[in-house]
Amino acid sequence: MQTWFVTGASAGIGRAVTEQLLARGHRVAATARRPEVLPRHERLWPARLDVTDPAELRTVVDKAFAELGRIDVVFSNAGRGAFGAAEELSDEAIDEQIAVNLTAPIRLVRAVLPHLRAQGGGRIIQTTTMGAHISSPGGSLYHASKWGVEGFLESVIGEVEPFGIGITMVEPGVVRTGFGAALSVAEPLAAYDGTPVGEVHRLLRSGADLTASAPGDPARVAAAVIESAAVTPAPRRLALGSDAYGAIRAALTARLAELDENLARSTDF
Ligand SMILES: NC(=O)c1ccc[n+]([C@@H]2O[C@H](COP(=O)([O-])OP(=O)(O)OC[C@H]3O[C@@H](n4cnc5c(N)ncnc54)[C@H](OP(=O)(O)O)[C@@H]3O)[C@@H](O)[C@H]2O)c1
Repeated sequence: MQTWFVTGASAGIGRAVTEQLLARGHRVAATARRPEVLPRHERLWPARLDVTDPAELRTVVDKAFAELGRIDVVFSNAGRGAFGAAEELSDEAIDEQIAVNLTAPIRLVRAVLPHLRAQGGGRIIQTTTMGAHISSPGGSLYHASKWGVEGFLESVIGEVEPFGIGITMVEPGVVRTGFGAALSVAEPLAAYDGTPVGEVHRLLRSGADLTASAPGDPARVAAAVIESAAVTPAPRRLALGSDAYGAIRAALTARLAELDENLARSTDF
């Protein structure tokens, strides 16, 4: 039996991971802003946690380790999307998006590391997105937050590997969850009407849910996340979904093609 700590366990991928862990006989410290919506189960340790509240985050992490003893896997998954052209975004939307998707995962990692070191190792799994490799107009803030958390983790991986702590970044394509409905959408600027951003604004205004017909199955994403925890050493990245595979592959190929060796060498002393 493993013990997992999950953020954003109320819905979507976090909920699917929580339910499958319980069905497989594992124990889950399931955290959510609305713990009352969590399933009831003898192996579920529920806690209220808004990941953007730093004091609550520290308290819940410390309490979970104190009461559960060992926690094998920390699944940092809570997140939200924001949409709008860079100049449409409000200062509040910027702060909110960075707080949920970037600052909170950084704080969570810092809060769990002393415990994972003390118990001799463990695993951290962070949900990022294929959008941590690719970008689309109107997604600048979301991409900044997710590229940012991957940059943070890339560095931390080398810091904590000597303590037996592995880190995996989960990069789904579009998955059928409540993510589309929960998007924070900026007030449109008329200047963008005839642009790709204006197109998406029109779609969103029509009530379309951009994740409703997505290829990604949250149950299969959850199963892949759970099964990755048994793989040693920790896989650095899990690209999940045919859309993620295609888009990430194309983005990496294009980035490699942009690397100009002659130009790079030409500025050396
Ligand atoms: N669905 C996709 O297409 C997709 C693709 C790539 C990556 N992702 C990533 O996958 C992760 C999970 O998203 P999802 O698709 O499962 O969407 P979802 O169904 O909307 O679930 C998001 C979860 O995050 C929680 N959450 C949001 N803000 C929070 C906060 N401040 N504190 C604590 N919990 C908070 C939500 O809680 P409430 O119920 O309280 O709102 C919910 O449990 C996110 O990190 C997202 O960026 C999603």
